[in-house]
Amino acid sequence: MSNVFIKTYGCQMNKMDTSMVTCAFKEAGFSLTDSVKDADVVLINTCSVRDHAEQRVISHLGHLKHIKKNRPDLVVAVIGCMAQRLGAELLEHEAVDIVCGPTQIPQITELVTKAINEKQKKLAITKNIRRKTPEYQTDALEKFETSFGIEDKQIPSQAFVNVMRGCDNFCSYCVVPYVRGPEVSRPPVAIIEQIRKLADKGVKQVTLLGQRVNAYKYIAGEKIYCLANVLKMASEIEGIEWLKFVTNYPSEKFFDEILQVMADCPKVCKYLHIPAQSGSDKILRAMNRRYTAEQYLDLINKARTTVPGIAIAGDFIVGFPGETEEDFKATVDLVKKARYKNCFIFKYSPRPGTTADKRLKDSVPLEVKKGRNIELLAVQEQISDELSREFLGKVVKVLVEGLSKKPHLNSAENPDKPQLIGRTETDYIVVFNGISSLAGEFVKVKITKTSPLTLFGELI
Ligand code: 5AD
Ligand code: SF4
Repeated sequence: MSNVFIKTYGCQMNKMDTSMVTCAFKEAGFSLTDSVKDADVVLINTCSVRDHAEQRVISHLGHLKHIKKNRPDLVVAVIGCMAQRLGAELLEHEAVDIVCGPTQIPQITELVTKAINEKQKKLAITKNIRRKTPEYQTDALEKFETSFGIEDKQIPSQAFVNVMRGCDNFCSYCVVPYVRGPEVSRPPVAIIEQIRKLADKGVKQVTLLGQRVNAYKYIAGEKIYCLANVLKMASEIEGIEWLKFVTNYPSEKFFDEILQVMADCPKVCKYLHIPAQSGSDKILRAMNRRYTAEQYLDLINKARTTVPGIAIAGDFIVGFPGETEEDFKATVDLVKKARYKNCFIFKYSPRPGTTADKRLKDSVPLEVKKGRNIELLAVQEQISDELSREFLGKVVKVLVEGLSKKPHLNSAENPDKPQLIGRTETDYIVVFNGISSLAGEFVKVKITKTSPLTLFGELI
C-alpha cells in the first residue's frame, strides 16, 4: 500500500479539492501520511493568484528534488492552478512526475498509479482552457464531487461545498479565469443532495463556494435558480444550522434576493465577504471591475439596512499599475466609509497572461506598495478594533473549531481546559477556555476582552 503526503497552498477552493482528492486516494487503497519521510507519493495542490504563492511551490519542489536523489521512486504530483498555468514547463522540473490541472482531478489516483507502475511522467491539463468545458469533463467532475465531496475532516462539523466552478469575470489582474476555466454552476439537486449527505454525517455548518458565488445561476426548464434559492433549499435540511457563502462580486444581480434570504432565514449567516479591490474609479475601471466606489458603497449600505447586524469583509489590491497617491487616498476613504469587520490587503502581483500584465506596466515600486499595504492595514485595524469592542460584555453563539493553535496571553492556563477557538455566525474569531471535546459543538461565550481580529471570553 502506498503512502500519500498532501500539501495545500491557496484558497478555500483548493482546500476543498484537497479534501476530495484525499477521499479519492483512500478509496483507491492508498493511505495518507503527514510526513514526507514516510511518503511514496507527494502531492502538491498549488495556487497561482500571486507570484509569491508560486514561488513557495517552486522552493518546495527544489527541496523535493534533493530528497529524490536518495529516493528516486518517490512520485511527485502537482495539481491545481499552477499545474494548469505552467503545464509542460512544470513537468520538466526534475522533481515533478505528474502535472494535473483542476479539471483533471478526477483522474488523479489513476495518474499516480500509472506513474508508480510505469515510471513515466504524466501531463493532464486542458489545452484550450477558455473553451466551453466538454460535457464528459463536467460529468466527471460532478461524479467526483458527489462521490468524494461528502466528507470534510479539517474542522469538525464543518464542510465546504462547491456550487460553481471557474470564472467569467476577467478582472484584469486575475489569473483565475485562465486556470479554472469558464464559469459553470452546478445543478441545485446535486448541491442539495451533497449537503444532505454531509448533514447525515453530522455537519452543522456548510460554506458554499464559488469565485463569485452570488453569480450562481442554474436554468432548469422554465425555472432559474439563483444563490438565494439554493440557500433557502439548503436551510430546509435537518441538521444544518449555519450556511455561509464566499466570495461575492459587487453586483446588483440577485443581490436583493440574497440579502432577503439572509434577513429572513436564521440559518443563513449574516456575513458578507465582498471585495472592493480599490476605492478609485479610475483604478476600478482599469481592473475591469464593473462598478464605481459609490455604487459599491450603495450595495453595502443596502446590505446593512436589509440585514441589521451583518458583518462585512473585503479584499483590496494596492499598487495596481497607475495607482497614484490620490487613487490610494480614495481607497483609504472607501475603507473608512465601509467599516469592514476585517479586510485582506494584497500587493499587486503581475500575472502572466492577464490583460493587466499584457497592457500595463507594473509601475508602482515595491516599496510604495509595501507602504500603502501597511497604511491601509493600520486604518482597517482601528476600525476592526472599534467594531470588536462593541462585543464587550455581550454573549455570542460560537461554533467551536478546536484547540487554538497559538495560545493567547490572557489564558488562565489550565491543562484540563485548554484554549479553544471558534467562530460566530458573523465570522468573528472567538477564543476561550474549555474542554477539547466541545470541538464541533455550538456554545455560548461571554466576551470579556477584545483585540482587532479576536474576541476573548468565558464559556457560559
Ligand atoms: N495581485 C494581487 N492580488 C490579487 N488578487 C487576485 N489577483 C491578484 C493579483 N494579481 C487578490 C484579490 C482577490 C484575492 C483572492 O486575491 O484581492 O480578491
Ligand atoms: Fe478573479 Fe475577478 Fe473572477 Fe474573482 S471575480 S476570480 S478576482 S476574475
